[in-house]
Formats: sequence, C-alpha cells, structure tokens
Amino acid sequence: MAETPTAIPLEKIPQHVAMIMDGNGRWALQRGLPRLAGHKAGTENLRRVIRASVEFGVKYLTIYAFSTENWGRPPEEVKGLMYILEDVIDRELNELHKEGVQLRHIGRLERLAPSLQGKVLSAIDVTKNNDRLILNIAFNYGGRDEIVQAIQRMMKDGVPPEKVTDELVSQYLYTAGVPDPDLIIRTSGELRVSNFLIWQAAYSEWYITPTFWPDFDKAEYHHALESFAQRDRRYGKVSSGELQESNA
Ligand code: IPE
Ligand code: IPE
Ligand code: MG
Repeated sequence: MAETPTAIPLEKIPQHVAMIMDGNGRWALQRGLPRLAGHKAGTENLRRVIRASVEFGVKYLTIYAFSTENWGRPPEEVKGLMYILEDVIDRELNELHKEGVQLRHIGRLERLAPSLQGKVLSAIDVTKNNDRLILNIAFNYGGRDEIVQAIQRMMKDGVPPEKVTDELVSQYLYTAGVPDPDLIIRTSGELRVSNFLIWQAAYSEWYITPTFWPDFDKAEYHHALESFAQRDRRYGKVSSGELQESNA
C-alpha cells in the first residue's frame, strides 16, 4: 500500500517552484514511440502538476517549456512543440481560468507565429485578475537572452551606471515583481541549469530526480516539497540554530 504523505506546514511550502520539465524524449524512446508522443504525455502531466501546485499552496509555478536553444531541434519537433502550446491554450484555458490560475509568459514572443502570439496574449489578458496560482510559462526563454535584453533596455532608458543595482536588474527581467524561485525541480537526472533563470536561481534550492517528466507524479512532487521543507537555507551565513548556541 502506498504511504500517505505527511502534511507539510504551510510556512515550509515554497512560495515559488520552478520546473525544468526534461526527459520527454527518453520516456518515448523507452516505449518505442516518437519523441512527440513523449511531449504529449509530458503535457498531460503538466496538467496534473498545475492542479497539485494549487492543492499544495504553491503561489508561483514557473515551467520551462521551450528554450532559446530548442530551435536547434529537428523542424518537425519544433513544429510539434509550437502546436502543443497552441493546443494547451485552446483546450485548457477555460478550466485554468475557472481554477483561478493566472497565466504569464516569460521569454521572447517575436519568433512565434502571429496566431500563436495572439493566443498567448489573449490568455494572459483573460486570466490577468486571477491570483490562486501564477503560472509563468517559459517559452522561447533563455536566461542569457533575458539578461542581454535587460542590459539593452537599461541602456536605452539611459540608466546611469551607479544606479545599476541587484534590485534594478531584477526589475528589468521578465520576472519583475515575482519572488525568486525557492525550489527548482529538474526531472530526468541531468545535472545542469540549461540556461534557465540563471539570475533568479542565485539562491534557489534544487531537487533533481532521475524520473522522466511524464512520470513525475503528485507523490514525487510532494516528496520534493518535503525535501525542501528540511533544508537549512543559509544564504552564505551560518545557520540560525548555530548562532543561538554560540550566543548562549
Ligand atoms: C523536455 O524533454 C522537453 C523539451 C525540451 C521541450 P526533452 O525533449 O528534452 O527530452 P529528452 O531530454 O530528449 O529525453
Ligand atoms: C531544457 O531541457 C529545456 C526545457 C526543458 C524546455 P533540454 O533537454 O533542452 O536541455 P539540455 O539540452 O539537456 O541541456
Ligand atoms: Mg532534454
């Protein structure tokens, strides 16, 4: 029998979880299926993960769906991934809206087909007043690209060098106003950042699992949150417990 997961105190739930949804291709390969079947299964799983996030009390969920480097994949796969985004908006928007999910996009929209750009913008508009879960979709997103654009915009705005601070840079990123991710989950076991939120992840906690994305279920998500709840986030300092001891 499966073990009932233990409840995690709400104050130990990460406010912002980011996910590198990796391993769809290998999941399909293992089953002798085309890679796109893996992406479809991955999309089904995303739907479950969004619902679980609402249930667990996570406030911000950022998902890496298409990187600036993913344009280098075979054209049919790129086309398929574009189609999946469109299909998800068509099929899921109403339900997500009803559940109080606010959709946002991070990355560059310019390179997407105009009809897809329109759908993304209208989904953002329709859900803009929802606040149960903020869902940031990183699509055509690259961390370096984001920083380069931020620098360009700061220069265009004539920001003097001495005004460039941590806070100001954060305000020029796509994630302006969003707290940095507390926890980043990467599926399929790869030990790399792959150009995801490289500025924002400065002090994020990581959870990396060998599970392929389509198999990353609610129980394992809960396990990741349990692992997070036990971490001692020191931010370069010494732990608060130690400090109390040494003052005693
Ligand atoms: C992640 O799965 C989804 C995207 C990058 C769009 P992959 O397609 O990278 O799966 P693997 O890494 O090849 O198994
Ligand atoms: C990262 O996965 C991008 C997304 C999940 C969208 P990749 O599969 O593209 O990353 P690498 O190539 O293994 O670094
Ligand atoms: Mg991959």
